[in-house]
Amino acid sequence: MTTYSLDPPEVSRHPHGLYRELRDDAPVTELGGRMGRGSLTVSRHEDVVAALRTPEVFSSDPAAVDIGTVRPLVPLQVDPPHHSKHRKALDPLFAPRQIAAYEPRVRELVRELIDQVADDGHCNFHQAIAEPLPSTVFLELLGLPVSRVDEFLALKDGIIRPPARSMAERREKVAATGQKIYAVLEEVVEARMAERQDDFFSTILDVEVAGEPLSRDDVVDIGYLFFLAGLDTVSASLECMIAFLAQNPDHRRRLVDDPAVIPHAIEELLRHESPVAAVARITAADTEISGCPIAAGTRITALVGSANTDERVWDNPHLVDFDRESNKHIAFGAGVHRCLGSHLARMELRVALEEWHARVPDYRLADGIELRYSQGVRQVDNLELVW
Ligand code: HEM
Repeated sequence: MTTYSLDPPEVSRHPHGLYRELRDDAPVTELGGRMGRGSLTVSRHEDVVAALRTPEVFSSDPAAVDIGTVRPLVPLQVDPPHHSKHRKALDPLFAPRQIAAYEPRVRELVRELIDQVADDGHCNFHQAIAEPLPSTVFLELLGLPVSRVDEFLALKDGIIRPPARSMAERREKVAATGQKIYAVLEEVVEARMAERQDDFFSTILDVEVAGEPLSRDDVVDIGYLFFLAGLDTVSASLECMIAFLAQNPDHRRRLVDDPAVIPHAIEELLRHESPVAAVARITAADTEISGCPIAAGTRITALVGSANTDERVWDNPHLVDFDRESNKHIAFGAGVHRCLGSHLARMELRVALEEWHARVPDYRLADGIELRYSQGVRQVDNLELVW
């Protein structure tokens, strides 16, 4: 029997071949290797979207994935009908108009970071730009101390990619890191309960849904999710995009010559790269996918990256085409849990690509670099560039 795995570095680097094999030969299967073990991986666009749009069967209950929490992450691990209460409270805070107000600060931050490396002729893009930018934006937004950024990044990595040799060790490390994250968040939320400031936690403590304020635990649980969602995804997306552009000078030249193309490039690269490669669910009832019967209580890994390159839906899915007419990718998910931070993410990505290409128009990968993509959220930490 064929064992499919994302573990080999060349497969993580170029997963499209594996995705296609899965869609054609094993649309519902258990992957070997680290990702997807202990769950059924679903790869066709139709099946992934159906799962994400049927939360009553494909639940987001915390049992779907182990991320060190003692309560569900809000709103990610809350199913309807309670889920909508949280989104009603949170959506206005992340609406396009709110996000537009942060753009000048984001631009200032990007320029400061680029200033530090522009004259060097080389940098590790992950360390110089992609990691510090979204982290600083996010910590400022939330009202967490930016001086503790390294500590927060280490905690986030301790959940998303813990260095562990076995599943048991992984679980232990994730739980211990989870406790530390709770401690940090509880400290901040307590402080804001005592005295409000001009930040996210203060705002959210005053939000009311149907006349009721959110509970202290709700606010901590929202913070926990933001910690993971806000510190990692934009970094990984920016890295996937720059890695592609460093290796594809014609595409890069278009952005440099015509920055108006950048928003289209972002959507196409989100589709093609799918930085959040997969999302987790657990079945709440017996069901079937692509004719395969699935028992209640089965963990499901929905391969967003495969759905976004399914030839049943996209013409030439492996071609990166900034002029693609219709681009309804699901890089931000689909259904009720569709990403809350998509407007913030798009703005950060656009500003970063605009400023970077204005200052460093002509860059490439350093000689001999074999890019290393992590699984799940596709970070590229050895993105060594020269220009
Ligand atoms: C390019 C960057 C990003 C990508 C690719 C991305 C991707 C995703 C995806 C695929 C989901 C769906 C998860 C699921 O269905 O289980 C999601 C949900 C979510 N994202 Fe993002 N995300 C990004 C940036 C952000 C940022 C900056 C924030 C910060 C606010 C954020 C906050 C959230 C939240 C709160 C949810 C849960 C929404 C819910 O359950 O209703 N994301 N994101």
